Amino acid sequence: MKYMGSKAALLRGELGRRLLAQANRSERFVDLFAGSGSVAHYVAENTDTKVLAVDLQRYSAHLSGAILLRDASIERDTVLRAWKVEADFDAPLFNAQSSVDAAGVSDARRVAPSEAGGGFITRQYGGHYYSIEQARALDSLYEGLPEGGPERFVAEAALIRTASACAAAPGHTAQPFQPTAKLLPYINAAWRRDAFAECARQVEQLSTRYAQVIGQVRVADALVALDDIGPGDLVFCDPPYSDVQYSRFYHVLEGIASGGWDSVSGSGRSPAIDQRASSDFSLKRVALQAMSTLLCNLREKGCQVIVTFPAAEASNGLSAQKIVEMARSRWTVTELYVDSRHSTLGGSGAGRGGRRNLQEAVLVMAPK
Ligand SMILES: C[S@@+](CC[C@H](N)C(=O)[O-])C[C@H]1O[C@@H](n2cnc3c(N)ncnc32)[C@H](O)[C@@H]1O
Repeated sequence: MKYMGSKAALLRGELGRRLLAQANRSERFVDLFAGSGSVAHYVAENTDTKVLAVDLQRYSAHLSGAILLRDASIERDTVLRAWKVEADFDAPLFNAQSSVDAAGVSDARRVAPSEAGGGFITRQYGGHYYSIEQARALDSLYEGLPEGGPERFVAEAALIRTASACAAAPGHTAQPFQPTAKLLPYINAAWRRDAFAECARQVEQLSTRYAQVIGQVRVADALVALDDIGPGDLVFCDPPYSDVQYSRFYHVLEGIASGGWDSVSGSGRSPAIDQRASSDFSLKRVALQAMSTLLCNLREKGCQVIVTFPAAEASNGLSAQKIVEMARSRWTVTELYVDSRHSTLGGSGAGRGGRRNLQEAVLVMAPK
């Protein structure tokens, strides 16, 4: 799944090797900024160390939980049968739907809020991120989620990943594409995706993956989650590097994970700002202080820490060097730099969903 700041690609290199070597020697691995869950999954699948994944956002807990909360493979069809929907996951939902034009998009946007029998996904996002048919399919997937157990853990993540894959938006869900001549082809490409078939694909990808030892997920601020950290833990920190909140970019996924917002508005169909999670790490005026407090509190816990952060100064005012300076007096810091590609979050003149090459620091910290 596309996720801003995902470490999935870096895990194939030195970062992955270091994490496994150190996690194998630790009582527990804690990913304090879990995001898509890629790092937590990697450690859980490849070591017998228990993993805890923490993130401010609920959808992240669903993504991490699909693997951390299971210690055995499950059949794809067992998950799909537990899903209480009428649909046949293997039969195409759409009849190679003809292209929609700007007027068709406007019509869909007009009718979606009052669509008979429509659930919150149709009412809040139909015609914007999803075609009416897709939104109805996503609503029925949400309503029919398996009741519990491993089937539920896989299904919750598959639903979030399906919602991400089908959205007519540039890799995140801050705003949907608008039906201009340039962007209509992207809307059509996205709206042609069969949500049930996509969901079955996601289930298939997740169901054979599992943790060696059942772990935990937690929706919490990293600073609050420290209550539970001890000296035997290896804590991985991959904090935000942007001065724009993650909750602004992923509010649709958070809405789906949370059963819908009270109301949404504007071209992004976003909830009121006070309903979205706010992180000090994405507020330029306090990000430095938040990082310093985090390091100070981690030091009190006596645990081992690995931090990843862009080498150059990021838009939230932090940089790898600033983190090293904060840590040096109380930690022995080993610095490693690896090549990476980061999302510009649509900014920096790189266009929608733009990416740029940069150096990422992997800072391995041992308490002095
Ligand atoms: C750079 S991303 C992590 C990416 C992740 N390592 C991956 O591979 O997908 C940062 C994550 O931190 C989360 N976050 C931001 N502030 C947080 C906080 N104060 N406590 C916990 N999580 C936070 C965001 O929701 C986001 O998912």
